[in-house]
Amino acid sequence: MKQVTFGSTSLKVSSIVLGCMRMNSANDPVKVLQTAVDNGITFFDHADIYGQGECEEIFAKSLANTSIKREDLFIQSKCGIVPGKMYDFSKEHIIESVNGSLKRLQTEYLDSLLLHRPDALTDPEEVAAAFDELKTQGKVHHFGVSNHSPLQIKLLQSVVKQPLEANQLQFGLMHSGMIDEGFNVNRKKESLSQQNEGMLDFSRLENMTIQAWSPYQVSLIKEVFINNERFPEINQKLVELAETYHTTPTGLVSAWILRHPANMQVIAGTMSPRRIEEIAQASDIQLSRKDWYQLYLAAGNHLP
Ligand SMILES: NC(=O)c1ccc[n+]([C@@H]2O[C@H](COP(=O)([O-])OP(=O)(O)OC[C@H]3O[C@@H](n4cnc5c(N)ncnc54)[C@H](OP(=O)(O)O)[C@@H]3O)[C@@H](O)[C@H]2O)c1
Repeated sequence: MKQVTFGSTSLKVSSIVLGCMRMNSANDPVKVLQTAVDNGITFFDHADIYGQGECEEIFAKSLANTSIKREDLFIQSKCGIVPGKMYDFSKEHIIESVNGSLKRLQTEYLDSLLLHRPDALTDPEEVAAAFDELKTQGKVHHFGVSNHSPLQIKLLQSVVKQPLEANQLQFGLMHSGMIDEGFNVNRKKESLSQQNEGMLDFSRLENMTIQAWSPYQVSLIKEVFINNERFPEINQKLVELAETYHTTPTGLVSAWILRHPANMQVIAGTMSPRRIEEIAQASDIQLSRKDWYQLYLAAGNHLP
């Protein structure tokens, strides 16, 4: 398993993360967890809202049914979304959410806590106060964000004492806006630059780990592009190159993300032990520059 450095820390973590958003749909969550760990995946991503808390509970129950030790895992959760109602980064909500996650996960601490989606009413002082309290109490070791722009991060970081170590973003062959932007500097592509604001370079300069969510999906989280006849060109290329690299199209999609030198993690949400193995094994593949570009183009992108 390829390891990456987590943010500005010296911690080495698995480049593949198991996303636990769909854990309440797993046929055998104990096997899912065990397969992940057996294949070197020791980083797990949660959120207070996944399955309305059920996913964190299932994870804890599954862990208790294995001999895997809590301290050998890196457990991350997220807070700040109040489903269907609003986003809430108030001190009270952040602390309450973490306490709920700790209880459901049956753990004393989170290795990492991310703010899930930007709250328009964010008061960085409140976030800072919440993080200070959680850090002092030993309830959260590291902090970060998700779906945040460079400026939103700068605003938070101007007050928050702890370094923001990670930004979880939708990224992959079918969500390559951060890459497209870099190719189109000085061209009339205003919508692109507004969307990404130099996110990729910012993350590298600030030593923030980009965690790529829903890497196999076309849309938000509901349509997979692999083996999908709506996307013949990319699938043809994936099948062709999978043979060259002795992997599967799924493995190759992860390897494409990890080939980027920005020290990213891939968050895979599959609950299939077979796919977990495929994805984990592909983490060590080093795509050639030519093949990386060929996949980018086959995904429907163009170079200027
Ligand atoms: N920060 C955010 O805003 C945000 C948003 C969404 C997700 N996330 C995180 O990202 C994680 C991954 O999200 P996701 O589950 O939407 O992403 P994903 O890994 O792209 O998709 C996994 C889903 O695709 C299915 N699938 C079908 N064919 C597949 C194939 N060939 N390869 C891989 N998967 C295939 C899987 O089914 P099987 O289980 O049957 O394999 C599973 O239902 C979540 O668990 C969560 O931790 C974060």
